[in-house]
Order: sequence, then structure tokens, then C-alpha cells
Amino acid sequence: MTDSIAILDFGSQYTQLIARRIREVQVYCEIFPWDATAEQVLALQPRGFILSGGPASVYEPDAPFLPGYVLNSGLPVLGICYGMQVLTHALGGRVAASQEREYGHALLQTSLENPLLPAGSQQVWMSHGDRIEAPPPGFQPLASSQNSPIAAMGDLSRNYYGVQFHPEVHHTPQGIEILRRFAWDICQAKPEWTPESIIQQTVARIRQQVGGERVLSAVSGGVDSSVATAMVQRAVGDQLVAVFVDTGLLRLGEAAQVRRALQNNLGVELVVVDAVDQFMTALRGVTEPETKRRIIGELFIRIFERQARHLGKPRYLVQGTIYPDVVESSAPDRAQAQRIKSHHNVGGLPERMEFELVEPLRYLFKDEVRAVGEALGLPAGLVWRQPFPGPGLAVRCLGEVTPERLERLRLADAILTEELSAAGLLRMGRRGEELHGTAQAFAVLLPVRSVGVMGDKRTYQEAIALRAVTTEDFMTADWARLPHDLLARLASRIVNEVQGINRVVYDITSKPPGTIEWE
Ligand code: XMP
Repeated sequence: MTDSIAILDFGSQYTQLIARRIREVQVYCEIFPWDATAEQVLALQPRGFILSGGPASVYEPDAPFLPGYVLNSGLPVLGICYGMQVLTHALGGRVAASQEREYGHALLQTSLENPLLPAGSQQVWMSHGDRIEAPPPGFQPLASSQNSPIAAMGDLSRNYYGVQFHPEVHHTPQGIEILRRFAWDICQAKPEWTPESIIQQTVARIRQQVGGERVLSAVSGGVDSSVATAMVQRAVGDQLVAVFVDTGLLRLGEAAQVRRALQNNLGVELVVVDAVDQFMTALRGVTEPETKRRIIGELFIRIFERQARHLGKPRYLVQGTIYPDVVESSAPDRAQAQRIKSHHNVGGLPERMEFELVEPLRYLFKDEVRAVGEALGLPAGLVWRQPFPGPGLAVRCLGEVTPERLERLRLADAILTEELSAAGLLRMGRRGEELHGTAQAFAVLLPVRSVGVMGDKRTYQEAIALRAVTTEDFMTADWARLPHDLLARLASRIVNEVQGINRVVYDITSKPPGTIEWE
């Protein structure tokens, strides 16, 4: 087992971010609800604890508190924001209730040399109401900000630390260094969480779970199902059979790419079901978005079930569940977190068919899934693919889905992808606090005709809308500020190269109030 850290979730919006940062410094960690049992948490054999922030106030009735096993373990503890306050409260210090929140940038000044904080001053991000009035016995103030005389504190002999600010967010540029020091130096956790070690451990876990049984996988063309399939292939080789239902609703070249990557390069036994005609027939005349989604979902399940029976119904089914889904669904009291999550899943498969599930990506964040995918030998173009909705191009082909209209959409979409890729904007990155590039970018075919002129001829054709957004969590998003000359080139290429399109528009709606997809 690799060294690890347990994160207790007190309901902060940022808890998953803490976990991602710790994983970034290559230390494994897991998130537990603050009221998980000692057995659940200690089974991880953590090297230390991080207590997350949270919306409560320690003096409220029923406020979440520090479970006894944390201090009894004698392991290092880092309390962040509310986590610092519960630590203070548990150890006999005083927390001052405050009516006013301190929110935003602050300048932190380290006042005492210590293993957690870099010396000198640094920008940090504050978001708290209550604050520490008197640290517990044995603690010393380590740093202050203008509004928080005790912005960080520590008991260096017991390895207990508390910070009032949020080291996990980007607005605290040195935050990752602080978390690294906690994990590596204070907890003495070895940085062993690498793609190779992830693969090694997951392969062992899968082998133990499935023994000599056969395993079925549904490949969708997306990142998660491809990486999950590649991982199971690495673990149990020819006990695996993967089914790829070609719905005809993928982007240009994607179906072929998945086949090549899994079948030819990795040697996965891949059954490709050509269901293009079936989907076209089922969607004929349908324009209502939810009806499209329902038809596609149901037909997919029907085809997949038939294939599964045909293959003797293996006992296990691979699922590409990733860690954020697991954390979201197992959190104890979501009222604490005030989280808003709309989730879209191609549901129904496992419930109806009574498979036992193999979930190779259950403990991985999306970045880790991609890194592991590359380490397993999948092409970068596949593992870095942007999210794509289950119902595919059908929900981007507004109005009726016909082969001709899909073709139009597919070509316009390919031009967009090609141009964004050439401009280095197909992935999203960060420049300081600015998000750069696109998290998701695609074309939408509108069922609207407008008049244009090409050569000397009047045209009366359909329009393409381009959608490109920046976002980190897909729950909110902003439209990408693409360069004007890039937009100009896109419009000109699409109108010239795609038959049946004479107009291109750019969607400048943020989410909310818009959604990312148009249907
Ligand atoms: P919206 O349109 O709700 O989309 O802003 C948020 C994210 O979810 C993706 N999406 C889906 N993903 N099955 C999926 O697996 C679906 O049915 C589905 N619908 C939307 C969307 O592409 C965006 O990334």
C-alpha cells in the first residue's frame, strides 16, 4: 500500500480540491465524511489527517466536531479554515464568532520559522467567518494577515497545524508548496502515487476481484470507458471482451480511433456493433430533445443487452466511475455542502442486467485518468479528448437527426477542432488566474435557414453555431474569448467547406443561465 493521507470533509466546496492537490504532489489520499467511523478511516492507514473547511460555526448546536480517533492516533493534523476551528475547539483554544466574513485576497506574513509555511510574505485566499481568538495550549501563532492576527498556528512538537486561509485554491499561489510540505515533510508520506504505481495497484485489485471470470466492457468512445477498458485489459487480458456500439453519433474519425487504439494497439477483443441504421431509423422525425435522449438511451441498452447475451453474459461489467462521482454520492449530509450538481449518466445498464461491477477508475480524478491512460499506451489524442455527451451528436443536431445533417455537423465540428488544435486552444490551461484555451468546444447545427450570397448566387441554408467554453467543473462555465481572427477563419472555412451551411454564429452565453450543450 502506498503512503496516504485521510481528508475529513466538513462540507467545504473545496474538499475535492484539497485531495487533487495532495495527489498532485504524488501522495495518495482519500476523502471521508467527517462523521465516518474510525474503522473506515483508519483502514487506510493514513500518515496524517487534513481537516477541510466547512460552512458551520463550532458553537452552533449540532456543529460537526473533531472525531476522537484523530488526536488519539498521534498522527500529524492540518486543519484548514473550519478544520482549524474544530481543532482549536477540540484542544481547548478559543474561536471567536464573527458576523463578518473575510473573503478574498490577503497578504500572509510568516512570523515564526516552521516546517509548514515558507518564510516571508505571500498572497493567500481567505474565506471565513469565525476566527481564532486564542490558540490551544501548546500552539504558537505562525503567521498573520491584516484581518487575522492568527492566520496560521502550530504545535510543532505534536505536528498539529491550522491555517485560516485556503492553500488548496489557485488564488493561493504557494498553497501547493504548503500542502507538499505537510504531506512530505510533516507526515513523511513518500511521493509514490504515480501512473505506474496506480496501474500496478489497480491491476492487482482487478485480478483479485475477478479471478478467472470473464469481464464485459462497454466502450463509448469517451476517455473514461477507454481507459477503464485498457486497465482491465492490462489486468486480465483475454478474459475481457469489449463491446463498442457504433451509433453513428460520434465525431469525425472517433469511432475509428477508438478501434485502432484498443483493438490494434492494445489487443483488446473488441466487438463492434454497427448500429448506425438502427439509430437513424429510431430517431427519424424526432425533434424534441428529451425524446431524443430517451430513444438513444433505450436503444443502446437493448443492443448492448443482446450482445451481452450473445457473449454468454459475462459475470463482471467494467464501469468508468471516477472518484468525484464516488465522493459526491457517498457524502453524508449534502445539506452541509450546499453543493449543486447536475449529473448526466448513461444509466440503467448494471441495474437491469445484474452484473457485478469492476471499477478501475474509482479512486482517480480526471487528470489521473488521463495520465494513466497515456501510461497504458492510449494515444494522447484520445485521452485528452474533451467531454462528450452520452447521446452524442444527436443533441447537437437541433431539429431532426438525419444522415445528411449529421454529416454537415461533423464536418463543421472537425474544422473547429482542427483550428483550435492548431492554435493550441483545444486544452484548457491557466495563465495566472485566467483560464486559457477551451474546456469544451463544439459545433451545433441549427434548424434555421437564412439567406446568403455565394458567388453571385442567392443561398438559403442552415446555420452552424460554435460553442466554446472555459470551466473547471462544468457546473458553471464562461464562453471562451477566442481570438477574432480565429473566429473569422472558422466562419470562412465552414461556409466554404461544408455544403448546406451559409452562416456561422458564436454562442456568447455563460452557464448559468445557458447550459453548455444546446439540448
Ligand atoms: P450541460 O449541457 O448540462 O452539460 O451544461 C454539462 C456537461 O455534461 C455533458 N453532458 C453529458 N454527459 N451524458 C454525458 O455523459 C449526457 O447525456 C450529457 N449531457 C451533457 C456536457 O457535454 C457538459 O460537459
